Amino acid sequence: MLNGRRVLLIVGGGIAAYKTPELVRQIRKAGGHVRVILTKAGAEFVTPLTLASLTGEKVHDALFSLTDEIEMGHIELSRAADLVVVAPATADLMAKAANGLANDLASTTLLATDKPVLMAPAMNVRMWQHAATQRNLATLRADGINFIGPDEGEMACGEYGPGRMAEPAAIVAAIEAHFARQNAPKPLAGKHVLITAGPTHEPIDPVRYIANRSSGKQGYALAEAARDAGARVTLVSGPVTLAPPQGACTIRVETAREMNEAVEQALPADLAIFAAAVADWRVADESREKRKKDGNAIPPLQLTENPDILARVSRHASKRPRLVVGFAAETEKVLEHAKAKFARKGCDLLVANDVSPASGVMGGDRNRVHLVSPDGVESLPEMSKNEVATALIARFAEVLARRG
Ligand code: C5P
Repeated sequence: MLNGRRVLLIVGGGIAAYKTPELVRQIRKAGGHVRVILTKAGAEFVTPLTLASLTGEKVHDALFSLTDEIEMGHIELSRAADLVVVAPATADLMAKAANGLANDLASTTLLATDKPVLMAPAMNVRMWQHAATQRNLATLRADGINFIGPDEGEMACGEYGPGRMAEPAAIVAAIEAHFARQNAPKPLAGKHVLITAGPTHEPIDPVRYIANRSSGKQGYALAEAARDAGARVTLVSGPVTLAPPQGACTIRVETAREMNEAVEQALPADLAIFAAAVADWRVADESREKRKKDGNAIPPLQLTENPDILARVSRHASKRPRLVVGFAAETEKVLEHAKAKFARKGCDLLVANDVSPASGVMGGDRNRVHLVSPDGVESLPEMSKNEVATALIARFAEVLARRG
């Protein structure tokens, strides 16, 4: 429920604007208060009268309106909200916001606001996939802007693909989730949480490497959950295609040795979570030049062991975090292997999961984990990786609090 939260809704000029009256209705039904900025192009698709009737408020559409500036100036408009929602966020609005343009009321407000912003993009699939839009998306994400959608499906223009605006109910759910996160208890406030995530790439020669199928999704979800619990988060990430979590310090590495070094640099930490799928071995005789076919002989790869980051930090002489958590990705005898690993690594807790191909965990969005501790094993139900992360972070915060 939105309990009187004030949403400033910026309506851009796209066909999806026809859904915004319904969005306004649903925000109000959930208890929110809505004020609308309608762009000139937006007014081609939805009338100010419709939005004014549904919000019970004047619709703002002009930057240089004398009466508007006297009643409520554009700076005040940008600040007198708890959340700014842009729906539909057109390619044009995204481009303006990404580049700091301020030539109408909507773009000026986006530049002037100090409030969180949620964008619901909507545009033709080719416009969405265009390198320029994807560049703008990355910039906006890095600037701390949140996104919902776009959905994939048939578009008003007859094409199919990603570009449809998220449904009003999904946008309202994202708005509610935003406020729920903001209100959530902060059991990790003042704590530094160090997380490793993703695979490592171990070079064979300048163009080839050994890798694994880890997507980094669980580790990134843990970083976001730790951030939402109030922690300062350092995320040491192997090569993944995920956007860095907003508000966390993300350090990108490739190899296990680089990850080891970045972890060492990031210490001290109160809590360290080793969710990365670190390659156990690297190629000992990494070639400076691309290896060539040599007659019929298949060249052998000499492997050597990588540093075991988890084991090393668990036994760190001077900077051992108060709580060290390992992960065990297993394809068979999950609990048996996990318990043995727990005993061997010297960590305080170990999260075990089944990553056999049938489980769909590697690269997927869901996970089922077992938490191994000195007290035994607690199995959590199958959930989304985000839900797993929230549940785990709550457990870790409890243990940390008990340790004082
Ligand atoms: O031994 P195994 O790789 O299965 O152990 C998994 C756990 O150990 C994970 O927490 C992983 O991040 C960590 N690990 C590590 N450094 C390695 C190998 C594994 O930190 N070289």
